[in-house]
Amino acid sequence: MATIGVIAGDGVGPEVVREGLAVLGDVAGLDNLRPELVEFDLGGERYLRTGEVLPDSVFNDLRGCDAIYLGAVGHPGVAPGILEKGILLHLRFAFHQFINLRPVRLFPGVETPIKGKGPDEIDMVVVRENNEDLYVGAGGFTRKGTAEEVAIQTSINTRSGVERCLRYAFELARSRGQARPFRGLSAADRARGLVGLVTMVAKTNVLTFAHDLWMRTFTEVSLDYPDVKTDYNHVDACCMRMVVAPERYDVIATTNMFGDIITDLGAVLQGGMGLAASANLNPERTAPSMFEPVHGSAPDIAGQGIANPIAALLSLGMMLDHLNAPKGAEAVRTAVTRVLAAGTPRTPDLGGSAGTIAVSRAVRDTLETILR
Ligand code: NAI
Ligand code: MG
Repeated sequence: MATIGVIAGDGVGPEVVREGLAVLGDVAGLDNLRPELVEFDLGGERYLRTGEVLPDSVFNDLRGCDAIYLGAVGHPGVAPGILEKGILLHLRFAFHQFINLRPVRLFPGVETPIKGKGPDEIDMVVVRENNEDLYVGAGGFTRKGTAEEVAIQTSINTRSGVERCLRYAFELARSRGQARPFRGLSAADRARGLVGLVTMVAKTNVLTFAHDLWMRTFTEVSLDYPDVKTDYNHVDACCMRMVVAPERYDVIATTNMFGDIITDLGAVLQGGMGLAASANLNPERTAPSMFEPVHGSAPDIAGQGIANPIAALLSLGMMLDHLNAPKGAEAVRTAVTRVLAAGTPRTPDLGGSAGTIAVSRAVRDTLETILR
């Protein structure tokens, strides 16, 4: 049995999570998963109703889950930061979800705005450090509201935090490469036994303390992975290169803030926010990991039944991988791949006119033929 905490959240969150749970029901039997769903009422509506963001009792119940499936939080009626910090960041930190895994993969049949690039060129994974950096909330104001105001926000980087993130990236590049060597390697690289590439993305030329630690750790950790090639890009150059030469990337390892930013660019490469999936992983499994589409609550389209459910379905696939349900995970990805390749039905973000439920229905029908 697997206990799955469900936080549908705000806006389009409940619309896409509902479809994810239906698909979970379709595939759970493949790996004898027997999911027990526990729904948590968290987000803007609860906050506006009760003033509660994440009560202790709810937090403790979430801790008891095997995984958390989250839609999105964020409400036009709630000041920015209250829900995002109070729910998302709080859970990521408290549950030691120190890896934010964000695949950037262009599926066949989906258009990318990058001219001349296709599925062979756009297939990378961003490993974003998820527990440190500017996001820990270290800082404060003095003389707030005056002309002499000072605001400080400190980036925290620990040797152990950086190292575990980089090790995760190297392990991932190795396992990806063992399944299929990274196509960007030269013949000479392959002859040397290299199978994958980790590119560290930081800003060592300006952030000469924090990113010096990152660089020294990167160099040391790389010695344990002679089969993985290494590269380094400053984050500004990375933004340029992701657009002009995405095929140069296999696994990107980066800081919390840079990972946040470059993965929105990544989402665009892969066809938009409606397709970008993510996992907040506690690889040591001392607390639940959390799986969510990269997108937010999309208030501009909420309630219209037109949100693309695919990001949420691919996030479900990542959750199934984590719960040791590889057959279900593969079935979800195969069904999504086929529906996208078919070109229809599609939600408006992908140029179609279908609704959330029609796309999800097509994925479930495809699943039925796969599982037959
Ligand atoms: P957003 O991701 O909600 O929306 C950005 C754009 O992408 C919008 O035009 C939206 O319509 C479109 N979009 C998003 N998801 C889509 C989907 N499934 N299908 C089709 N189109 C989709 O980002 P935005 O507008 O900056 O933020 C809205 C709220 O969500 C804010 O309160 C923000 O803080 C919150 N947020 C929450 C996140 C989370 O829960 N993980 C992540 C990002 C933002
Ligand atoms: Mg973001």
